[in-house]
Amino acid sequence: MTDAPSHEAFAPTERERHRLFLDDYYGWAEPIYDLTRKPYLLGRDRAIGRILERPFARLAEVGAGTGRNLVRLHAARPDASYVAIEPSAPMRRRLATRCPWARAHDAFAEDVDYRALFGLARPDVILFSYSLSMIQHPGRALRRARASLAPGGEVFVVDFGELHRVPRGLARSFHRWLDAFHVHPVDRGLLATERAKVEEGPLGYYRIARLPPAPTPRPS
Ligand SMILES: C[S@@+](CC[C@H](N)C(=O)[O-])C[C@H]1O[C@@H](n2cnc3c(N)ncnc32)[C@H](O)[C@@H]1O
Repeated sequence: MTDAPSHEAFAPTERERHRLFLDDYYGWAEPIYDLTRKPYLLGRDRAIGRILERPFARLAEVGAGTGRNLVRLHAARPDASYVAIEPSAPMRRRLATRCPWARAHDAFAEDVDYRALFGLARPDVILFSYSLSMIQHPGRALRRARASLAPGGEVFVVDFGELHRVPRGLARSFHRWLDAFHVHPVDRGLLATERAKVEEGPLGYYRIARLPPAPTPRPS
């Protein structure tokens, strides 16, 4: 997936086209979403386990979908504040009923204002669970998230890997199938540029990445 330079805006027409796709797709997929995704959105509970190894008071999930991950995080850490960023209306409706303790926001990862979501405080953890591969400008989304973290905070990504340990033909067919749903596995080079520490799942099917806050610019 290409990522436009950060000075370019996320054009309103592009954003609205993406929103229409999401609303249409999740309009019919939302009722069966959790059941059908369980067998292939692997590594999510492992990523949640990693997040729970660290302290956090404020957590934002980007592309939170039906709230499946937030339910688990909230059960383990009920005193933290949770925000769900979700541009698809059918998903947001489901989230709102399932996670009444979380604030659901209609926004896109490329231009969301994280600090406004927590009353000007910065989040300690920002989670992208199988959303970065659907986001049109993943580099911009990651840079924005890193720049918005509290000191010592982390961005966590769990998403499809490159399937480098399965026969190439099989991996190619799987990626072609994902492409039909506007899903593009996250580029390893992008994660390296953003200083991610990466843990690979079995067969390279998924990966979990942890990214530090962006360095604060020095006054000139
Ligand atoms: C495959 S679902 C993952 C849902 C959930 N995180 C999970 O692990 O079950 C991807 C989610 O990303 C959202 N999404 C797609 N593009 C986005 C964007 N540009 N900004 C934020 N969320 C986006 C979709 O609406 C969808 O809810």
